[in-house]
Amino acid sequence: MTEPHDGGFEYWNERYEKEGASYVGKNSMDERLCEDQMNKFWGALREVFKDCDHVLDFGCGTGRLYPHVLPHVTDYTGCDIVDTVLDHPISMPFYQIFKGKPLPLQDNSVDAVVGCTVFQHMIEIDDFRWWIKECKRVTRDTGTIYLIESLLNGQNFSDMQYRSYEETAKEFHLGDCTVQDLNIDEPKSHYLLYGSNCKK
Ligand SMILES: C[S@@+](CC[C@H](N)C(=O)[O-])C[C@H]1O[C@@H](n2cnc3c(N)ncnc32)[C@H](O)[C@@H]1O
Repeated sequence: MTEPHDGGFEYWNERYEKEGASYVGKNSMDERLCEDQMNKFWGALREVFKDCDHVLDFGCGTGRLYPHVLPHVTDYTGCDIVDTVLDHPISMPFYQIFKGKPLPLQDNSVDAVVGCTVFQHMIEIDDFRWWIKECKRVTRDTGTIYLIESLLNGQNFSDMQYRSYEETAKEFHLGDCTVQDLNIDEPKSHYLLYGSNCKK
């Protein structure tokens, strides 16, 4: 499979330089609204998130999720292509920046991956598939993958690729897959999709 593009780095780095810590939210969201948004994401995730040892926060940004997840895990790894978290007051124990690939983690080494509004930004289907494969590789067979993605009313924007939850679920090939609509920024603005990691 073709290796993913690094194009995302330029885009996210530029947004970070312009918008500071609020770059993780929608355009024009300030930091307080970004925190509110994460409180709502976590409110939904907490209902289904199983406490475990090692979690990977894939595309962790400034670490908005970190304080919420930390009490429920013993090992936390945050990864991002942009080094935002280094400037941010939260210090993550195992934070890694990776502008390249693959993920700096061994096969079957994490119990859960959380991807919070990250995969929706992979425009090219080959990139999307490459990173899915990578996240599945590092997740144990007994592990769970949790995704929050924007529904975007089915539209595409220049920095986002709309994929229905059926399409995302099919690509991720998760067992016992469950989906929930989330009313975060507006009714049905996002969905939460989670399931066990099927390797076959
Ligand atoms: C909308 S922000 C969300 C950040 C964080 N998950 C949160 O909810 O606060 C998307 C993040 O995904 C990161 N990202 C985009 N493509 C990525 C990739 N291929 N690998 C890792 N991180 C990526 C961006 O740098 C950015 O920090």
